[in-house]
Amino acid sequence: MLAVDGAFKAPSLRNVELTGPYMHNGGMLTLDQVVEFYTRGGDFHEANAANLDARIAGVGRLVGSPTNRANVVAFLKTLTDDRVRFESAPFDHPQLFIPNGHPGDAVAVINDGTGKATDALVEVPASGAAGSCVGVDGTPHFACPVCGDNKVNQASEQCDGTDSVLCPGACRANCTCPPAPRCGDNLVNQASEQCDGTADAACPGRCRADCTCAPAPVCGDNTINQPSEQCDGTDSALCPGACRVDCTCPAAPPPPPAPGTVVATVEADAMVNAATPVKNFGATAKLEVDASPVKHALFRVRVSGVGARQVTSATLRLQVSNLLNSQSVAGGRLHAITGCAWDEHTLTAKTQPAIDGPVLATAGAVALGQVVDFDVTGAIQGDGVYCFALESPSADGVRYNSREAAAGKPQLLVGVGSQTTTTPPPPTTTPPPAASAAGTVVADTYVQSDLATTNFGAKPVMSVDNGAASNPGTTGVQHTFLRVSVSGVGARLLTGAHLKLQVANVTNAGSVAGGSIHAITSCTWDEKTVTWATQPAIDGPALATLGAVAAGQVVDFDVTSAIHGDGVYCFAIDTTSTDSAIYNSREGTGQHPALVVQVTP
Ligand code: HEM
Repeated sequence: MLAVDGAFKAPSLRNVELTGPYMHNGGMLTLDQVVEFYTRGGDFHEANAANLDARIAGVGRLVGSPTNRANVVAFLKTLTDDRVRFESAPFDHPQLFIPNGHPGDAVAVINDGTGKATDALVEVPASGAAGSCVGVDGTPHFACPVCGDNKVNQASEQCDGTDSVLCPGACRANCTCPPAPRCGDNLVNQASEQCDGTADAACPGRCRADCTCAPAPVCGDNTINQPSEQCDGTDSALCPGACRVDCTCPAAPPPPPAPGTVVATVEADAMVNAATPVKNFGATAKLEVDASPVKHALFRVRVSGVGARQVTSATLRLQVSNLLNSQSVAGGRLHAITGCAWDEHTLTAKTQPAIDGPVLATAGAVALGQVVDFDVTGAIQGDGVYCFALESPSADGVRYNSREAAAGKPQLLVGVGSQTTTTPPPPTTTPPPAASAAGTVVADTYVQSDLATTNFGAKPVMSVDNGAASNPGTTGVQHTFLRVSVSGVGARLLTGAHLKLQVANVTNAGSVAGGSIHAITSCTWDEKTVTWATQPAIDGPALATLGAVAAGQVVDFDVTSAIHGDGVYCFAIDTTSTDSAIYNSREGTGQHPALVVQVTP
């Protein structure tokens, strides 16, 4: 608004709301700015003072009154014709193409085929008689469908407020339905869900794929799922089928008795403790043997069924308890005793029988759960009742399972021959010709302490050494293991068994000591996999010990006492010497290990 005469035309204010920007130069974007402009009396007031109408000095009622100014703007907006706003008749129009110059540049344009420049056209889309649902200024038409009118009336709407058949009561502000609740959306939003992925408050860390909580791990759920579980019911890879109710595996079961042995009955066992001289321990599941305080274990065994046959071996087999500290540096000394009338339920240290027989067998260091065999062959002559006492010279007590333990109870294994000890029955018929008895070395290998996970099963030689002591780091302790099979003995009496090994013809194969051979109870090792770390325990006493051996020499280990008849037997050779002995193995080119057995005709 300038009062310079005739300088500007006063435009129509009809539909002014829709015609911004305003003024001849588009200098004001909004009607508010225009009203503000008039309120302050226009621009360039001073510069144009000479030409200004004297009455122009701001609009007094608007100065200082935002309300009045807003009312003026509101009034200006009443000048808008909605038919213009929504392009409805009579202000509708057909589709229009308006020439908008010619494609090309300053030098050339494109020939339209008639010698004229091709037109560039701008399309103004048709506007129908009903007009548009969106005004030229973006205002939605009150009669047109919108998201928010509580009616599903647009293609884009799945629902609209209260109109929500697809998702009753759950329509979102943008007129779409939320995705159906499903197991996997990390929301507990269905009756069937106890949890859902990360929404696992009900069972942290145990939500299953089906949105139910896995039961809390317990011993008894047939799954190894707690650090305390070695096994759990049927989930028992460590001890198949033998898992205990507390989810631990029992110690390895004692090996089955060798063929040809009978298991006699340990009918009573007891322990006595000098520290509690009138106390009876007959009902306890353990037998303790100790030098301080003095504790003895006593055993009564009943042998029957031997009849006229000869007892060829007898072994009292005990198992060290799995309870903490049951192991010891000393497994105890076993004596045959004559006092055999005691009652395990009344026996005390005060009433115990005298240990009046010599030591039959001594056990060295024993480990938790270890099966310990005491050779009592010398004390058992045939059917009858025998008593034994076990004492220890060591103050490091050992604890064995008793008859009252759940497993690993004392056993007496008696090997019998077929021969009568008195007069053999005269043959009534001609016996079939006996097959020749034969021994075969079926596996041999050695293990070495400084290569604890190396297997030497394919080596042509086997070594025995206590080397680490004198030559640490260069060669370790070496044990040789052999498995032999005896067949063809049948019912005959085996009178001799000799393991023949040849000292290898290599440098330093000879030794001042050929080693000590032990019968061992573990006979399931594999010569192709066994290592120092997995070697079987050398749990039998030395059967034979060799002195000096020379390269090429065939040496003889007498193992008669360990072999009772047909079957498979295992042996270990160790040494106390740091001068290693090296023998040819089954895999070597020299003379192979052999077992020579002799039987009665
Ligand atoms: C409060 C009262 C007034 C209001 C609300 C008003 C409103 C407007 C508006 C909205 C425009 C811009 C129109 C457009 O660009 O489409 C305008 C321009 C104009 N008005 Fe006013 N006006 C008022 C008073 C006056 C008076 C008193 C005069 C004359 C003495 C006047 C003369 C003009 C002229 C010449 C223009 C065109 C200016 C240009 O193109 O730069 N107006 N007015």
